[in-house]
Amino acid sequence: MFKKILLSGIKPSGRPHIGNYFGAMKQFVEMQTAHHCFFMIADYHALNIIQDPKVMRENIINLAIDYLAIGIDPTQSILFKQSDVSAHTELAWIFDTIITVPYLERAHAYKDAVAKKKEASVGLFNYPVLMAADILLYDTDVVPVGADQKQHVEIARDIAEKFNRIYGETFKLPVAHIMKEVAVVPGIDGQKMSKSYGNTILLFAEDSDIEKLVMSIVTDSSAGVPKNVYEIHKLFRTESELAKLYEEKAGKYKELKDALTADMKKFIAPLREKRKAIAGDTARVLQILKDGGERARAIAQTKMEMVREKIGVKLY
Ligand code: ADP
Ligand code: TRP
Repeated sequence: MFKKILLSGIKPSGRPHIGNYFGAMKQFVEMQTAHHCFFMIADYHALNIIQDPKVMRENIINLAIDYLAIGIDPTQSILFKQSDVSAHTELAWIFDTIITVPYLERAHAYKDAVAKKKEASVGLFNYPVLMAADILLYDTDVVPVGADQKQHVEIARDIAEKFNRIYGETFKLPVAHIMKEVAVVPGIDGQKMSKSYGNTILLFAEDSDIEKLVMSIVTDSSAGVPKNVYEIHKLFRTESELAKLYEEKAGKYKELKDALTADMKKFIAPLREKRKAIAGDTARVLQILKDGGERARAIAQTKMEMVREKIGVKLY
């Protein structure tokens, strides 16, 4: 049967947390067999944040291990890093020439940087264009991401439409796939869980860290239900199971946190053990990435030939 094409990416900018997992990564695994999948390590996007080559290298390898540990199967899906396929940056340049500065000025990440009076790099400004190239290069149909990436997928669609208008039908219009019920996973302080807020619970956390972090979840209660504890607990149990538990233990924050700790440990332990086993064979991980890069490159090359033809630079 004809399978739709799925592509998603994660920046190798730190260790994944349960917000990344439930907001995005979990869907990757769930959608893997029904789609033809590309899972990317967005190292050139991460260059906006990581400028230490040693850290970059470690982060890339760690993220490849993470992908494998959550269940990405490299015999089924293409797992690769962005920098192995130079067509991504090449296509981003071509897109740069058809979109305008005022259009990109409306992108959230750039607007945030400006609002915080940060001096944005051209790379940050251009971030959505490179992401559009990532997506459009492979004729992607679906892009599973967390809610905060929705705008970026819309930008990719806009760019595809504009290119197609100018040069004729070339790119497919992708759609974002966002898991509604976990669109935003809260952190231990109740804000969106994010590496940049220091409020995360890591996906491969050790038991002792899970205990400490759950105990530090801020409890602002309404009717005896500690909202932040509940919102995180929801990821590990069905709401009907929780309804009973939270009713029985109304107001007993310590006991509710203990219950969450136990559920979280049970969920994380097997993932963590699997990750450790994979991490023991770095050579294999690198080989998987290298193979994935070759497979992605071959597909991207064919698309680029078509793009070069369309824009009139292909002479032979
Ligand atoms: P962070 O905000 O921690 O830096 P990233 O920007 O690297 O996370 O996000 C990687 C993926 O995880 C994206 O698809 C993003 O939408 C998703 N994601 C990140 N944080 C959350 C969250 N708190 N809830 C749901 N999804 C999230
Ligand atoms: N911008 C995404 C994030 O911060 C990562 C990313 C890069 C991506 N290229 C992509 C996600 C292509 C989906 C498709 O999470």
